[in-house]
Parts: sequence; C-alpha cells; structure tokens
Amino acid sequence: MDIQGLSAIVTGGASGLGEATARRLAKAGAKVTIFDMNSESGTQVAADIKGRFENVDVTSEENVINALETSAAAHGEARILINCAGIAIGEKTVGRENVPHDYARFKKPSKSI
Ligand SMILES: NC(=O)c1ccc[n+]([C@@H]2O[C@H](COP(=O)([O-])OP(=O)(O)OC[C@H]3O[C@@H](n4cnc5c(N)ncnc54)[C@H](O)[C@@H]3O)[C@@H](O)[C@H]2O)c1
Repeated sequence: MDIQGLSAIVTGGASGLGEATARRLAKAGAKVTIFDMNSESGTQVAADIKGRFENVDVTSEENVINALETSAAAHGEARILINCAGIAIGEKTVGRENVPHDYARFKKPSKSI
C-alpha cells in the first residue's frame, strides 16, 4: 500500500508499540502526528521522524477534538489512525462465573486503577 504523503495519527506514539509504528509509518512516507501525554519523549520521536507531536490525553474528548483539528490544519485530514495509547485494563470483561468486572473500570479505565 502506498501511504506516501498521507496524514497519520498514532496515539501512544511516544513509546513502545506506538513509537515503533510512528517510526515505521514515517519511513514509508506518511506525515505522522503523535498524540501522547509524554511530551518529552513524544517531542523527541516527532523530531526524529520529522513529524508532529500533540500533547493529548486520549480519555479527554475535548483534547482529542482540538488535536484532530490542529493536525488536519497542519498535515491534512488523517487517513491513518493507529491507537496504541495504553488506557485499557488487562482483565476479562466477563469471568467464568459469568460476572462482569467492576463497572468503575469501564467508566475510568486507567486513572482510577
Ligand atoms: N507491548 C506489548 O507486547 C503489548 C502486548 C499486548 C498489548 N499491549 C498493550 O498495548 C498498549 C501499548 O503498549 P506499549 O508496550 O507500547 O506501552 P508503552 O507504555 O510503551 O506506551 C504507551 C504510551 O501510551 C501513552 N499513554 C498512556 N495513556 C495515555 C493517554 N490517556 N493519552 C495519551 N497517551 C497515553 C503513554 O504516555 C505511552 O507513551 C498497552 O495498552 C498495552 O497494554 C502491549
């Protein structure tokens, strides 16, 4: 697939899977914007790949909408979205006893744990 020049957003792109993905997309010619809360690493990775960094908490709808608008203005509307921001929890939705896990975890997946 030719992604040369396409606008891409990678959440969690300051580290780990997201960082590797951001680097790979940039190498393939995409214009990458990283959405992450870690501005130190995010800024560094963005500089390395000649992309952009947006300080975004993906659990904030307002944050995400603002960053999408800024990114679209800079790179064009995103055609690629890779979600790697680690906000989910590692727990079965429904256990063997057919009991769902604590509802509070659905409401606030990362910060309350
Ligand atoms: N690494 C693995 O082998 C693996 C395997 C399966 C699943 N996962 C899941 O994939 C996700 C990413 O894994 P990773 O190893 O790359 O983790 P990581 O900790 O290296 O990277 C996660 C990135 O997400 C950012 N982030 C966290 N909360 C955020 C938020 N609310 N808004 C914006 N950015 C936020 C962090 O600042 C960090 O840069 C995690 O949810 C992890 O549980 C990882």
